[in-house]
Amino acid sequence: MLSAYPLDSLEMRERKDTKYFYQFRVIIIGDSTVGKSSLLRQFTEGQFIESSDPTVGVDFHVRVLQLNENIRVKLQLWDTAGQERFRSITKTYYRNCAGCLIVYDISNRESFEHARDWLYEAHQSIDDQNVVFLLIGHKVDLDYQREVTTSEGEAFANAHDMIFMETSAKVLCNVEEAFLCVTKEIYRRLVEGDIDQKEGWDGIKTIPFRPTGLYVSNENLTGHDDGHRRCCR
Ligand code: GTP
Ligand code: MG
Repeated sequence: MLSAYPLDSLEMRERKDTKYFYQFRVIIIGDSTVGKSSLLRQFTEGQFIESSDPTVGVDFHVRVLQLNENIRVKLQLWDTAGQERFRSITKTYYRNCAGCLIVYDISNRESFEHARDWLYEAHQSIDDQNVVFLLIGHKVDLDYQREVTTSEGEAFANAHDMIFMETSAKVLCNVEEAFLCVTKEIYRRLVEGDIDQKEGWDGIKTIPFRPTGLYVSNENLTGHDDGHRRCCR
């Protein structure tokens, strides 16, 4: 299993005196009703809806993260429908991603068992070397109905070279952390030259940084106060 890199170590590797604005494409997949859209809505809009409608095809969300004074990342987030009937559409979005979040519901064993199928499907279209995989055990607020233990999730992630996290969009557990973690890992691999930015692959783009000279915090960019976005644990 991979671990998240602290920002300090990223700063050390950063190319000094240069400001970068990156765009990373990240896809989120998993069974229907596991909470993919809710996780993204919480991350991008800061809200949770009890009766969320199933996604039709693919939805698109954006959020900008400021990793530090010189590094700004625009996350382009593709929210896919878990329902089988949309599978042929959603599959076409896998190829151009630098990050892939596979989500299961900790209170639904079947959704965890299907994580293997989702991973297999992603591997069919994705160049593994270029993609950071994150396994997410979601709805951790439903601990009293838990059907998948944390160690089972960790073991699966370990076996498949994935980062692992348990989250809840409802009680705001690890939502910010999960996206920050995948962003930092993509950035680390990019800086270390582990990602092959092939012609025709749009998982990562480097965009010229507007020379405002201003430091823009996550709060200013998103309207969120990071201080309130704490993990429940
Ligand atoms: P599809 O779009 O059909 O693939 O489903 P989805 O994975 O996007 O699920 P969605 O986000 O629509 O959520 C399904 C249901 O789970 C909704 O009723 C949500 O309110 C609920 N839900 C989402 N996240 C959480 C959570 O963290 N805790 C709890 N208890 N419920 C959640
Ligand atoms: Mg959805």
